[in-house]
Amino acid sequence: MAVSHYQVEGDDPCDFTEWEAAGRTNGGACGAAVGSWERYEEDVDLALSIGANAFRFSVSWSRVERERGRFDDAALARYRRLVDHCVRLGVTPVVTLLHYTHPVWFHRETPWTDRASVPAFARFARRVAEALGDGVRVYTVLNEPLVMLLGGFLDGQIPPGLADPRALGLALGNVYAAHAEAANEIRDVSSAAAVGLAHNVMAFAPERPRNPLDRLLARIAHGFYNRDFLEAFLTGRWDLYLPPFTRLRGRNPDLAGSLDFIGVNYYSRLHLRFPGRLRGVADFGYRDRTGRGLTDNGWEIVPEDFEPLLVELSGYGLPLLVSENGLADAADRHRARFLEEHVAAVLRANAQGANVSGYFHWSLVDNFEWLDGYGPKFGLFAVDRQTMKRSPRPSAEAFTALARRFI
Ligand code: BGC
Repeated sequence: MAVSHYQVEGDDPCDFTEWEAAGRTNGGACGAAVGSWERYEEDVDLALSIGANAFRFSVSWSRVERERGRFDDAALARYRRLVDHCVRLGVTPVVTLLHYTHPVWFHRETPWTDRASVPAFARFARRVAEALGDGVRVYTVLNEPLVMLLGGFLDGQIPPGLADPRALGLALGNVYAAHAEAANEIRDVSSAAAVGLAHNVMAFAPERPRNPLDRLLARIAHGFYNRDFLEAFLTGRWDLYLPPFTRLRGRNPDLAGSLDFIGVNYYSRLHLRFPGRLRGVADFGYRDRTGRGLTDNGWEIVPEDFEPLLVELSGYGLPLLVSENGLADAADRHRARFLEEHVAAVLRANAQGANVSGYFHWSLVDNFEWLDGYGPKFGLFAVDRQTMKRSPRPSAEAFTALARRFI
């Protein structure tokens, strides 16, 4: 089961809070979220009650280091209590160190475009690993770093809100380095810990299946988004081409060997069309080509593309973990079938030799969905935000049935 700090904890001022206040989102303020800061243990109990045996969460950098260089021991101790609770119940804690948000000082003082970002993140990683101790055996250090980089440095949709390929190139190199140094720190503190990342993987299809340019675009997008960015973590070299004019190249020998496993976040498929009327080189969007109906936020449901993606990524020779998979479905019309079909895709991938060793559903509870606020409902449990009461959706039973069969 997976959650992330900002989306569930509440009252955690950070760069994203400023973004909301500046009117840069569609969905309003995060505010109290779903109150998990006070309820984490109950949330773990809920996850366990429906059959989960692992709990993925993230540590809030802005809580732990609200002022640069001053670590908040009480915040670290609170996460330690959460870890201890998981361990006591036999639920494996899986910890992410950066799930999109940063302390407010970060972009001002040590932004990702500056090399100083790297020791800043590594120091934070070390402090967290020391505080959480050996109870944590699995880290997905960065959540969707490519999404964070594209959104923050090319699209300008999330903090720091830049649209500048040069800044993107600098930030990319520093984010890679930050991962490598954090991995070293974690291993130094906790030699038994497995280090990975959670990489967002998308299926891409040509909008017009026979159109050669649409097909070419789908191939380029797949290479760039699903493979090339990730491969740098294995080889220590990157050469990323983003049509029409952006090429990002670099190397960092410390990156090679910095992963023990690859976490895969999979949600949907994009259809690409050349040339773009709205976006230049290409337009992209979701279509209901499989006939299952779109999710509440308009995403296509495509379990059939999940299996080949897992098989392809397993070619890197590392174990895989499905670190997120889920959908926005307030009425719970599609979730049970979605779960069954995606877990079946994992099993088929494993039957073909992939080594997927776990599945985390996104998400345990309804939560704050970034630019879209509280609109999309991703939870197996609905949350009444007045009382913060959690109530299972019917699909929670489908999760339990799968857990009984496969755990
Ligand atoms: C992110 C989550 C997000 C989910 C649904 C993932 O890419 O890691 O934070 O809530 O997608 O949009």
